[in-house]
Amino acid sequence: MPPQAESRQGNSVPEAEVAAMFDAIAPVYDRLNTVMTAGGDGRWRRAAADTAGLEPGGAAVDVACGTGKLSVTLAERVGPFGRIVGIDLAPAMVAAAGAAHGDLVQLSFQVGNALALPFPDAGFDAATIAFGLRNLADFEAGLRELARVVRPGGRVVCLELSMPPQRGWGRLFRSSFGRLAPLVAGAFGHGRAYRYLPSSLDGFPDATSLAATMRAAGLAEVGFRRLALGAVALHTGRVPESGAPLG
Ligand SMILES: C[S@@+](CC[C@H](N)C(=O)[O-])C[C@H]1O[C@@H](n2cnc3c(N)ncnc32)[C@H](O)[C@@H]1O
Repeated sequence: MPPQAESRQGNSVPEAEVAAMFDAIAPVYDRLNTVMTAGGDGRWRRAAADTAGLEPGGAAVDVACGTGKLSVTLAERVGPFGRIVGIDLAPAMVAAAGAAHGDLVQLSFQVGNALALPFPDAGFDAATIAFGLRNLADFEAGLRELARVVRPGGRVVCLELSMPPQRGWGRLFRSSFGRLAPLVAGAFGHGRAYRYLPSSLDGFPDATSLAATMRAAGLAEVGFRRLALGAVALHTGRVPESGAPLG
């Protein structure tokens, strides 16, 4: 399938608004996710953790970590001698993550921006971002920043909603998602905030275009697989060894 002709390069909603919206939904975020994905989200995050290719004792940063669901899965993979840092723009999300998973020595959470990670170059074996890239003001810059903090040979993994490639199912998915997300969220008292969720998918690069964006961000061996009939895509790329040609 050829890359999408017109896709957005970034999210136009100001960062302060994005953070306030996620702060507001932090208390119900996990329950809403489970309801809206019929429990599939756990499976997708485990697939993302597998893709990161971490060994016991390894180190990774989980960017836009939210309530820390992927971070904790990564922490289980690296074990007590590893190091996982979850970082998120919304303080209430970071507080919820710490409250839920504060008992693992190898896992910590902090507030920070994906577009300016407070870490030196090449300090991690992997960087992950799950359902977070769509929220960034510049997708390529976000991926470049994830790649910057990963050592040569390490992986950047992106799990994200995607537009299914089959036209009919794609349209059906888009319109049902646009109606259902605010409705389900409304039942939890957060309908307004959850109107942002489907709108943030409008113009987001399809899986093929996102792979091209990852290459443009300097990643090699870029690949992806579709999950949930294409409604979710799991992308990975490798930080090239210095001087190695991009593949
Ligand atoms: C849909 S949630 C995903 C959370 C989590 N990764 C998961 O899998 O459930 C998106 C998260 O991205 C965070 N976020 C949005 N913009 C960000 C930015 N510029 N830097 C860091 N985090 C950001 C939000 O605060 C929110 O917690």
